Amino acid sequence: IKRVTTFSLQEMKQKGERIAMLTAYDYSMATILDDAGVDVLLVGDSASNVMAGHETTLPITLDQMIYHAASVVRAAKRAFVVVDLPFGSYQGNSKEALSSAIRIMKEAGAHGVKLEGGIEIMDSVQRIITAGIPVMGHLGLTPQSIYKFGTYTVRAKEEAEANKLRTDALALQEAGCFAIVMEKIPAQLGKDVTESLDIPTIGIGAGGYCDGQVLVVNDMLGLTKGFRPRFLRQYLNLYEEIKGATAGYIADVKSNDFPNEKEQY
Ligand code: KIV
Ligand code: NA
Repeated sequence: IKRVTTFSLQEMKQKGERIAMLTAYDYSMATILDDAGVDVLLVGDSASNVMAGHETTLPITLDQMIYHAASVVRAAKRAFVVVDLPFGSYQGNSKEALSSAIRIMKEAGAHGVKLEGGIEIMDSVQRIITAGIPVMGHLGLTPQSIYKFGTYTVRAKEEAEANKLRTDALALQEAGCFAIVMEKIPAQLGKDVTESLDIPTIGIGAGGYCDGQVLVVNDMLGLTKGFRPRFLRQYLNLYEEIKGATAGYIADVKSNDFPNEKEQY
């Protein structure tokens, strides 16, 4: 199998071939997603929500991200594996950002890192890229800033914020980022930015003109009960499937149906 690289992702944009990205946090799930042919696996700090049950992405630590990332890297035979730098591991200064990125590359064996923000974090982005580590940008609704925003609603609807996003995207490209995630912004802005860049854009709630799409795998598979934002297409209802299977197991144990004659030694 041929590994997806920053170079092949660039080629996909040029050819107009869409990039399919999903999050992953563990070996079993990442094995299935990679086998299905997903191009990029993102070890997102959304692990803080969907794996650990926190309300925001802020509490997850660099050590915890490395644990999730190492599991996903062991599963990925074809996909390019990008890992989020968690809140607090890169905002201090560019030296700290680089050492966090290096830990993710060395200890987890990741192929690249993702950082939230534009101009504010440009020193860190440049320093990490200078060290030879591929960086993916992340603009729009950046969940590590949720207490600044105060709401998970659509970003950059006003011209000032939209203009800052356009400028940030160009600056991230200039710094050498290989792709940029755009989260929860108007589709027209997603289109404008995508057309203004040579590097691919990956959207989540950013419309159909981005070069690729990403979803949180637990949301896409219907594992997260009651989470149904407009941008989410739910391909399964695993919550109900697993609940049904579990109820069946419980009933079989209680009724002494499991294990039967053939299921014992
Ligand atoms: O952590 C995450 O899942 C993400 C994606 C939503 C882009 O950053
Ligand atoms: Na994230």
